[in-house]
Amino acid sequence: MSSQHAPREQWASKLGFMLAALGSAVGLGNIWRFSYVAGESGGGAFLLVYLLCIVAIGIPIVLAEFAIGRRSQSDVVGSFQSLAPGKPWVLAGYLGVASAFIILSFYGVVAGWSLHYFIQYFAGGPSLEGGMSYGDYFGAFTSNMVQPLFWQFAFMALTVGIVFVGVKKGIELSNKILMPLLAILVIVLAGYSLTLGGASEAISFLFSPDWSALGEPAVWFSALSQAFFSLSLGMGALITYGSYLNQKEKLPGAAVGVSIMDSGFAIIAGLMIFPAVFAFGIAPDSGPGLVFITLPEIFNNLSLGTLFGLLFFFLLTAAAISSGVSLLEVAVAFFMRQMNWTRQKAALIIGTIIFLIGLPSSFSFGAWSDVTVLGDRSIFDSMDFLASYIFLPVGGFIIALFVGWGWKKADALAAGDLQGSAIGIVWIWILRIAAPIAILLVFLYSTGLLNLITGE
Ligand code: PFF
Repeated sequence: MSSQHAPREQWASKLGFMLAALGSAVGLGNIWRFSYVAGESGGGAFLLVYLLCIVAIGIPIVLAEFAIGRRSQSDVVGSFQSLAPGKPWVLAGYLGVASAFIILSFYGVVAGWSLHYFIQYFAGGPSLEGGMSYGDYFGAFTSNMVQPLFWQFAFMALTVGIVFVGVKKGIELSNKILMPLLAILVIVLAGYSLTLGGASEAISFLFSPDWSALGEPAVWFSALSQAFFSLSLGMGALITYGSYLNQKEKLPGAAVGVSIMDSGFAIIAGLMIFPAVFAFGIAPDSGPGLVFITLPEIFNNLSLGTLFGLLFFFLLTAAAISSGVSLLEVAVAFFMRQMNWTRQKAALIIGTIIFLIGLPSSFSFGAWSDVTVLGDRSIFDSMDFLASYIFLPVGGFIIALFVGWGWKKADALAAGDLQGSAIGIVWIWILRIAAPIAILLVFLYSTGLLNLITGE
């Protein structure tokens, strides 16, 4: 096993590890996905359930993933194989590798759009011809057969490039610089957006929940999956990153810190996007184009708008890259061990395959927009649905049960740096009972099974 290979790569410092985990968590999910899913799910009620999922389910499972990775010092499949040989827990590992392929395939499409907008701002922003709106521009660009592919490819090449270079010099260094910059910019833009005239509507949209929406299963389902997606949870990205950590660090603080900052990012991004949504009369449920339509409107109205646009899409792309890197790393770490490939070979082969898998998702905004797969969903939405709504929560469910029941209690507490503490007992019971039941209930509720069972 791993002892025959070169020593496993390690983070240079605990801060480096935390920033890398944060870099994985903070990405398109916080800005692009959060805003459009919140917009489609009615705002406040969604935000409330989302935060509930982060605290009650997310943080304990983040810690569980860190603990598994650091203890096993292996990739997502190898972790379960070495900690529980011959047991079925390893299913979570394979689901995780599959999720990495699926998520990065459509993530690359959206990240490619972001890269395109960034380059557009070098020439003053998206060029609107003949009375086009930003919505029209977005529609015309994304429905083009060829153009988005170029940007998707460029994004994948950058992501592969960083994974190619390795853990410390590639992933760790870039996050240290870019994360704080992005945070500052989102705060500044939120401050400006709140002056646009849509502020009070936006604030009530986001913070005064329509309580009746809590009765809608879809809101719970999308909030749960957004929590998993945003925290990079349920597919072993955090197991893989935890495996590059040495034994000395303390994990609970890192788990809580990463989760709080990740949610903070999403809320501030909401305060940046929704005032503009209302000020410019854009429908909050405009779907995946929301960010790409609202933000150019903001920049267009801002005196240094082109500069802000340039900076914003640069940082959004950078955040997408640091998340994309963690997605790719899950698969790369697995194939390096499984197939005995070098890091470089694995990154190139898997990156190419994922780019190809992403093509139909890109086409589904144009020529293939009529093709529907799972239910009434487009190819793009089906990929997202399969990974974010099914694989991630199921993966998280298995991971929680594994640490709760598959490990001896003392081992689990030691692995999570919570021995001898009351919080440790709470953590174990959340993983054993509360989190799995909560995930199960959301599943039953949203598939209508619960109604069938209770006869309502
Ligand atoms: N958390 C990332 C985001 O919010 O953009 C997306 C992501 C990265 C999901 C890594 C899953 C993952 F393993």
